[in-house]
Amino acid sequence: MQKLLVTGGAGFIGSNFVHHVVNTTELHITVLDKLTYAGNLASLNHLPAERFNFVHGDIGDAGLVDRLTASVDAVVHYAAESHNDNSLHDPRPFLDTNIIGTFTLIEAARKHGTRFHHISTDEVYGDLELDTPERFTETTPYNPSSPYSSTKAGSDLLVRAWVRSFGLQATISNCSNNYGPYQHVEKFIPRQITNVIDGIRPKLYGAGENVRDWIHANDHSSAVLRILDKGVIGETYLIGADGEKNNKDVVEQILTHMGRPADAYDHVTDRPGHDLRYAIDSGKLRRELGWTPKFSNFDAGIEDTIAWYRDNEEWWRPQKAETEAKYQVQGQ
Ligand code: NAD
Ligand code: DAU
Repeated sequence: MQKLLVTGGAGFIGSNFVHHVVNTTELHITVLDKLTYAGNLASLNHLPAERFNFVHGDIGDAGLVDRLTASVDAVVHYAAESHNDNSLHDPRPFLDTNIIGTFTLIEAARKHGTRFHHISTDEVYGDLELDTPERFTETTPYNPSSPYSSTKAGSDLLVRAWVRSFGLQATISNCSNNYGPYQHVEKFIPRQITNVIDGIRPKLYGAGENVRDWIHANDHSSAVLRILDKGVIGETYLIGADGEKNNKDVVEQILTHMGRPADAYDHVTDRPGHDLRYAIDSGKLRRELGWTPKFSNFDAGIEDTIAWYRDNEEWWRPQKAETEAKYQVQGQ
């Protein structure tokens, strides 16, 4: 394998993967990204020109996708509309990109016999009760709650059907909540960090008891590369790092690290249909492909992430006011 096409490579996790691949392999990467509000070319700074090129375009553009897919050995598909709150207010782009965009890519991959890795989310499984030992596994039935997660579930099912019906050379991974540098300020952790920097009190949806299973984006990237290298065609792998925390605890941790009282936050309107708890059993990936996470100290990861947002205001500042204005209209 020499050449990869990475869709959504200007986004949070896609750009992390691009840097990881450039730093740890000899592979050449082409990024295809539409540069929506969530894409940021500055996340791809400092990459060597001989190892990387950028194509501005839509994964729903069949001609472009066909041409790019024909020239690579594998496609790693990150591009998506990724934010649950946006999907509740304007679902249409989620159908266009997550469903039709994925369809366009797998049609090209099947035509050219190209290896395909589909990036997905644990949200396709719905949610779990609090305080139970239950966790998602690869055999948990699909039960998505939001427009976002239902379009991701739909895209997973398309990939599975293309494997079975057309022999698509594909693998799928479903990962839990990522955190780290370069995440858009609409998402929970960067929103609260940048709020505190701006003197705004963090906003907790509802009671703040919802649990997310946090993984550093660097660990997500190493897992995806391992699956691309050693994964079995047709298989699904869950990616997680045993990082369950409720939202209230995360906000308190951020406030404490930033020198504010731990209770200096506000409760705001809850997200409709808000999933209660996610938890991943990543045993299959660890046992069968020998992967282990390296960034499992969440407290240290949060401190580093706070430092990154403090040091890289020019990266996030242009999105901040518009993002908060949108939340204000929603009462959040
Ligand atoms: P993001 O919103 O930060 O980035 C998405 C990227 O896709 C952006 O660069 C955007 O410009 C690009 N894009 C959107 N529509 C496009 C289109 N039609 N054509 C080409 N490019 C397009 O998202 P993220 O958080 O980095 O998530 C990346 C992937 O990982 C998604 O598939 C998401 O479902 C999945 N995922 C995310 C998480 C998480 O915690 N953020 C966890 C598990 C899985
Ligand atoms: O589980 C994986 C998923 O994680 C990915 O598939 C999604 O792309 C990604 O956005 C993320 O989804 P969530 O909805 O869990 O992430 P978000 O950052 O939006 O919210 C995390 C939790 O924090 C959730 O319980 C809602 C809550 N929240 C969020 C915001 C923005 C708040 O309490 N206050 C906020 O201001």
